Amino acid sequence: MQSGVLSAIGTTPLVRLTRVLNDLSFRLYAKLEALNPGGSTKDRPAATIIEHGLETGAIRSGTVVIESSSGNMGIGLAQVCAYYGLRFICVVDPKVTTQNIRLLKAYGAEIDYVKEPEPGTGDFLQARIKRVQTLLRTTENSFWPNQYANICNSKAHHHTMREITQTLDGKIDYLFCATSTCGTLRGCAEYVRAQGLQTKIFAVDAVGSVIFGGPNLTRLIPGHGASIRPELYQADLSDRCVRVTDLDCIVGCRRLIRKEAILAGGSSGAVLMAIEQVKDNIAPDTTCVAIFPDRGERYLDTIYSDAWVLDHFGEVSQIWEDFEARACATATF
Ligand SMILES: Cc1ncc(COP(=O)(O)O)c(C=O)c1O
Repeated sequence: MQSGVLSAIGTTPLVRLTRVLNDLSFRLYAKLEALNPGGSTKDRPAATIIEHGLETGAIRSGTVVIESSSGNMGIGLAQVCAYYGLRFICVVDPKVTTQNIRLLKAYGAEIDYVKEPEPGTGDFLQARIKRVQTLLRTTENSFWPNQYANICNSKAHHHTMREITQTLDGKIDYLFCATSTCGTLRGCAEYVRAQGLQTKIFAVDAVGSVIFGGPNLTRLIPGHGASIRPELYQADLSDRCVRVTDLDCIVGCRRLIRKEAILAGGSSGAVLMAIEQVKDNIAPDTTCVAIFPDRGERYLDTIYSDAWVLDHFGEVSQIWEDFEARACATATF
């Protein structure tokens, strides 16, 4: 069914990383999901969900698509809705970046702002979902992709894992996957199981996210992590969860651009740092794949801005020094 720009979704490059982590005893590859036309891995579930809706009749002429997202899923849906001529209302909160608003508008999406967090919890995600439900009730012929629960989200990522498997002839010993809705994690895990692969899966979550338990804390880097446990989550999807701080995301991203010339988003930095955290547990002469979900242009005013980093974490030069001091002797910049 896919044609035009949507036919460019998927088949993203898998590149070998040889510079960013020193003295690796295993082969490290990165799946560059930024090369999807909408700039992130969320193009995949956005297209799968909307096309499933069109096939089943849940979406028809005049349907208004309504979803809560301040980031990549919103942009992915905006792209697919623009392609199919569907109206799209994206419910965002004050944490959305100006750049993402401009991108959403450029694709023709309508922006609906939630200004106040959920009373009592201070949480914006719950407030956004409530707003989506209100809009669905009051908008005739509306459709909610519901990315946190929609099985088409995870199904879209069977393809992600199939592509990795085909490129590496099925020989993937470890997969590192950032998590938020758990669509990527679940889709890849289901494919691994269905194919009888021996791949060990590491879920990468944010410190302060509740997906794998633990308290809900303030996080500054969007993308991975969630303040609710998504319905797509299942306890046995991963062999292990590795948690990464916002500061480590920044360090990871800056290492990636310095050493590999990859301008990646925050969760890619998180995945890199997660691999570094557990690299001594990775058997030598094995193959390890990291999924890098999006591109760094969306983080130029945050992760890649020295002024922003200074405001929130301190001097960049000091951060490097601290990192060098605490990191293993093998860490490189
Ligand atoms: C940059 C980024 N990283 C990671 C994720 C997590 O992916 P998933 O929702 O499939 O768990 C997302 C999801 O929006 C994302 O935008």
